Amino acid sequence: MNDKLQVIKEQVDGLIAQAIEEIKQAESSKMIQDIRVKYTGKKGELTQISKQMKDLEKYEKPILGQLINQFHQSFNEHIDKKQEQVKQKELAAQLASETIDVSLPGRRQNFGSRHLLTQTREELEDLFLGMGYQIIEGPEVELDSYNFEKMNLPKNHPARDMQDTFYISEEVLLRTHTSPVQARTMEKHDFVKDGPLKMVSPGKVFRRDNDDATHSHQFHQMEGLVVAERITMADLKGTLLQFAKAFFGEEREIRLRPSFFSFTEPSVEVDVSCFKCGGKGCNICKWTGWIEVLGAGLVHPNVLEMSGIDSNKYSGFAFGVGIDRVAMLKHNVDDIRHFYQNDLRFLTQFKGGQN
Ligand code: DAH
Repeated sequence: MNDKLQVIKEQVDGLIAQAIEEIKQAESSKMIQDIRVKYTGKKGELTQISKQMKDLEKYEKPILGQLINQFHQSFNEHIDKKQEQVKQKELAAQLASETIDVSLPGRRQNFGSRHLLTQTREELEDLFLGMGYQIIEGPEVELDSYNFEKMNLPKNHPARDMQDTFYISEEVLLRTHTSPVQARTMEKHDFVKDGPLKMVSPGKVFRRDNDDATHSHQFHQMEGLVVAERITMADLKGTLLQFAKAFFGEEREIRLRPSFFSFTEPSVEVDVSCFKCGGKGCNICKWTGWIEVLGAGLVHPNVLEMSGIDSNKYSGFAFGVGIDRVAMLKHNVDDIRHFYQNDLRFLTQFKGGQN
């Protein structure tokens, strides 16, 4: 081996010793990658040495080739082994940093619940379903003819003033009460096929009202209607007493006071004995012992006839209860606007079941 080759061989030996030492010190994949580039990359140390090939004699070139191969073999062996170790260490570190502490408390899920008005509507529905009533829904956008005329309130009748509403056109409006469902149901009813008519109809109603603690431009009612042969005031009174006891408590009594509704004759306002003081007088019943809860009466013969029912053969009773109102009374809610503001501090007070 001549001098030149001898020098190169010493360079390669030195280089591999140096590389092995650096590989030993490497602690990360990044450092290992840097070492690869430093020694075997395009501008790496070994490439520099290889460049001397052209200065060698022909017979010497394969010897240098062999030296280079030996370098690669040894270098790769060391660096691959190191790479494997580092990878294991890095994986272990990653696993350790990502472990889940199963003893930490979980994130609480917030469950929603039915709105108090929905709970109240369903409670009322269940109550009347239990007495054999059907539930029938009617449209919120209603015709003048159903909302007023078929309820015995002709155009220009002064009693219309109390129920001014939102008009879509001259003849189409947002219904002011659930009473028009009476007419819609009676028109379709066939006593021979269907037997007596017993229905309740819950839903939204609308009025042109100024909103305050007890008034809202949108609220809820439930209409009740029974039509059959020989229905009397006694049937109405018995039904409403049963309702009052089931909804407000077994000890409740009711009293009827004369009133006026165009679609009933006679008409009554129905009071329930105060469920807070039992009738002695308190702030809830305004020291009268009684709380007004609904309007009712015997269906006016005109209303029966306009819906195609023979008023000589059939009679009926009807009632209309404010769902918001009875919910407020029963749960001591002091402002109807609470129902429509979706404030969780209010809503979450009524999370438990039906009551
Ligand atoms: N529709 C009436 C209102 O909104 C409530 C009402 C009173 C309904 C008497 C009835 C009834 O069915 O018989 O003020």
